[in-house]
Amino acid sequence: MIKLTKLFTNSFIDVEEHQALKHDLAIAHQQLHSKVGLGADYTGWIDLPLTSNYRNLTQIQEKAHEIREHADVLIVVGIGGSYLGSKAVISALTPTFFRKPGSPQIVYAGNHLDGEYLEEMFESYKYHSVYVNVISKSGTTIEPAIAFRLIRSWMDERYGKNASKRIIATTDATHGALRELAEDEGYDTFIVPSDVGGRYSVLTPVGLLPIAVAGIDIIKLLNGAKEAKQQFDLADVNQNAAYQYAAFRTLSYRKGKTIELLATYHPKLSGISEWWKQLYGESEGKDGKGLFPAAVQYTTDLHSLGQYVQEGRKLMIETVLNVKSQHSYLSVPKDEYDLDGLNYLSGKTLHEINQKAMQATTLAHEDGGVPTAMIEIDRLDARHIGALIYFFQKACAVSGYLLGVNPFDQPGVESYKRNMFALLGKPGFELEQEEIEEQLNQYRMVNAIT
Ligand code: PA5
Repeated sequence: MIKLTKLFTNSFIDVEEHQALKHDLAIAHQQLHSKVGLGADYTGWIDLPLTSNYRNLTQIQEKAHEIREHADVLIVVGIGGSYLGSKAVISALTPTFFRKPGSPQIVYAGNHLDGEYLEEMFESYKYHSVYVNVISKSGTTIEPAIAFRLIRSWMDERYGKNASKRIIATTDATHGALRELAEDEGYDTFIVPSDVGGRYSVLTPVGLLPIAVAGIDIIKLLNGAKEAKQQFDLADVNQNAAYQYAAFRTLSYRKGKTIELLATYHPKLSGISEWWKQLYGESEGKDGKGLFPAAVQYTTDLHSLGQYVQEGRKLMIETVLNVKSQHSYLSVPKDEYDLDGLNYLSGKTLHEINQKAMQATTLAHEDGGVPTAMIEIDRLDARHIGALIYFFQKACAVSGYLLGVNPFDQPGVESYKRNMFALLGKPGFELEQEEIEEQLNQYRMVNAIT
């Protein structure tokens, strides 16, 4: 279902180096599966494809059915792992320019602090039937909390005491401000398992409810993840493409590469790239270590970043995510006058041309000193996307262990929050406030002098 089809073609990494890593991989595998490695309390995602029980899934499907029946729009409020997973799956598996009959529009809020966005959202949907799914595991993250306060009051104005029937909260079973609020207001709730962190939570109600509302079969998605689990839980790296991918990344990093580009040739995969960036960036970037995850969408970006990839600093590896099967048979028509000189392509499908562009680019980048791996999925459907999610999560966790970091925490995210709370005068941050304002003043002075 998922293959790593092309690896180390430019002999950047030799066989001995790969052999030597096998020992480290075996340890990482053992630590992860025996739940004794760093962050072991947050490895519940490994079992999700098996433990998502019928009752939970039925509840999600029933709620999704209700929303599909009554809503024109579902606003999903959340940030980071609380929205990127559902957005990735929905953009991969639903039409780009229209909605299927019966499918509400899914829009996202609370993933930044821009007021104009919310004002435009309120204006755009003032005559639509709206439901809201507010998602926060901690229940205290400032971006979704602020957005939800505004959305809640907008919903109250529109629906009065019925507003609470249109709001669903996905949060921790017992802790956090959102849990308390949901109970006070009588919202329906879904639980984020305590042993699953945000960026590993797409196969929990965090991702599954919005995905089901979009009309995607969540059972097929989970079955795909289940099949992937059988494949990517194998200890033997020779049989496990997720571990081969982790090995490729790790050895490239050890040999001085600092950036990994995820390259796609299909616009519907752009959401997967965004989700992947968060998964790898937050999991690995700590203790001064880690490949920086960046994404490119080809062939679009061959006309912007392509020049750098080909001839710029040799910092990168490239991982191509390819969908093998033809998803459209649109072909280039023959033209009587051939003024654009394209008749040599007539009869060829855009898929065929895109695949040739991919082969040509991969070869060129390899020649330009950018080692490439290619992850291939057979087709773009719920089963394959479910498998891809598990593949990337598994490879990420093992990569983190090979790197020697805890792939399940994100302590660095606290630094900006501390500064922001201090600058905004949050009670309890008075001391930091003075310190930070002093630092900002010094910065202003330095800037004024230079
Ligand atoms: O991966 C993570 O844990 C984070 O990116 C969180 O998902 C993000 O910070 C949002 O957190 P919360 O769901 O607690 O609001």
